[in-house]
Amino acid sequence: MRFDSPPPLVQNARVSNVFYAPGDQRAAKVNDLFAAIARRYDLLNDLQSFGMHRLWKRRVVQLAKAKAGDRALDLCCGTGDIAFALARRGAETTGLDFSPQMLEVAESRRLKNSKLKIQNLKFLQGDAQQIPFSDHSFDIVTVGYGLRNLTSWERGLDEMFRVARPGARLIVLDFGKPPNALWRKIYFTHLKISVPLMGWLFCGNARAYAYILESLKNYPAQLAVAEKMRGLKLTDIRVINLLGGAMAINYGEKAA
Ligand SMILES: C[S@@+](CC[C@H](N)C(=O)[O-])C[C@H]1O[C@@H](n2cnc3c(N)ncnc32)[C@H](O)[C@@H]1O
Repeated sequence: MRFDSPPPLVQNARVSNVFYAPGDQRAAKVNDLFAAIARRYDLLNDLQSFGMHRLWKRRVVQLAKAKAGDRALDLCCGTGDIAFALARRGAETTGLDFSPQMLEVAESRRLKNSKLKIQNLKFLQGDAQQIPFSDHSFDIVTVGYGLRNLTSWERGLDEMFRVARPGARLIVLDFGKPPNALWRKIYFTHLKISVPLMGWLFCGNARAYAYILESLKNYPAQLAVAEKMRGLKLTDIRVINLLGGAMAINYGEKAA
């Protein structure tokens, strides 16, 4: 494991920008980031969220109301948490991600779980901004902690909408922006200091974890996602704030 320079407690803002670049460079930098942390990704998720990301993902899957016969697409699936849960509920599930390293971890988890007979799940390499499926293909389209990483999150939502069947559930889980100013400050300080520190300690990479705050600053979060869903004329649009808006789930259904 390679440890980068000391945690960015006292370093300048440049450190947090290493994996963030706007425009055309964005995807390549994001790909580098996940290639670097893939092996430790699950561990760090548990540590940073005190295991709570499992509850938030469970909430996503409950909202998806997956059942046998449904087709589900989990975008930016990473190591596969949401995809596994959708498949376990019986949906014919595809997990899509552009990082071979993250998909490798997902695939090895799938093979380890083969005893549980997760046959209705496949992982596919591809770009969430150009989903390699035709229009109206899925009953459920989810994305967990992915939209924020796209060069254009709006394009990502347009693509989710395109591949969704009429009546499909579209669900986005991501870091949010708490409406309360004091809580937002405390939370952003946590993202600025403790999260990169944990990244350094347990993954040898502070910069990859400093990226979370950088990407969040450049992502308009739950309110803008809801606005975009309204623009797409989704129905039953909901914003579910978790931990006072530090995390958020956006839900909407494609009109039948
Ligand atoms: C923070 S991880 C989330 C993984 C998983 N969904 C979870 O909640 O644990 C973000 C994932 O998005 C993927 N990703 C980022 N941009 C992408 C794109 N344009 N197309 C497909 N996957 C992308 C990354 O490779 C990474 O695996």
